[in-house]
Amino acid sequence: MNEKVIEVENLNFSYPDKTIALRNMNFSVSRGESLAIIGPNGAGKSTLLLHLNGVLRGEGTVRVLGEKISKENLKRIREKVGMVFQDPNDQLFMPTVFDDVAFGPLNLCLEREEIEKRVDSILKELGLEGYGKKSPSHLSLGEKKKVSLATVLVLEPEILVLDEPTISLDPGTRRIFIDIFKDIKKTKLIATHDLDLVSQLCSKVVLMDKGTVIAEGSCRDILRNKKLLEDHSLEVPASLVLNGLKRQELKEKNRLSFSLWRKMTAR
Ligand SMILES: Nc1ncnc2c1ncn2[C@@H]1O[C@H](COP(=O)(O)OP(=O)(O)O)[C@@H](O)[C@H]1O
Ligand SMILES: [Mg+2]
Repeated sequence: MNEKVIEVENLNFSYPDKTIALRNMNFSVSRGESLAIIGPNGAGKSTLLLHLNGVLRGEGTVRVLGEKISKENLKRIREKVGMVFQDPNDQLFMPTVFDDVAFGPLNLCLEREEIEKRVDSILKELGLEGYGKKSPSHLSLGEKKKVSLATVLVLEPEILVLDEPTISLDPGTRRIFIDIFKDIKKTKLIATHDLDLVSQLCSKVVLMDKGTVIAEGSCRDILRNKKLLEDHSLEVPASLVLNGLKRQELKEKNRLSFSLWRKMTAR
């Protein structure tokens, strides 16, 4: 569990218009871990993720599975780190769902038969059986997000990187996605401000703002820290507030029944 599969050291990045997006970022992810990167809009979450498979290259070091990302190993790194973009329209560009999901395996020069087997199996797993011939542009957002995920999972990456995976989904579709992610037993890195999703899926949290790490720790510690979250435009997830209220109610009930019991047993 302690093998570091991603290590980011002193990472700095500015966009060409001089916007400073990452400032001396440092964090790591262990094998098998589900790490949440949380933070307000504009904190630098997406910029950070784009460094993990070399789409962006800042100053500093990004190591994946022990290897520093460089021009020479970029192709290999991208096979290991599967990135699902926030907007599925950035991921889907082929005329059919089948073509989109088969695109990556075709580039890996896999046999046609193997490709069809993999595509059919992943579409089935994600509840997209029979969608192969459809045009991605005609699908709902939830379906597009599933196809995007399929284009990544079909390559069997070791590390799954998800950018705002539940944003704009209706509650039912959102729950389906949470269940899908729960079933994926890979190292996961999830950038989101859906803190309820974080409380269900992640064990460790990195809170970032203005391009740098503000706090990191267990999900339990960070997600219950009302002041810290509110200082960075986030809030304690409703599920934890409700749990807290239930616990308080239970305590109150126990207190009342205890005082009743004392009265009844008092001589
Ligand atoms: N292509 C770009 N050119 C210039 N600035 C950008 C670009 N993309 C993002 N930014 C800026 O970088 C900062 C971090 O953005 P981003 O990584 O998208 O944050 P987040 O994903 O946390 O919302 C923001 O200030 C944003 O305006
Ligand atoms: Mg973003």
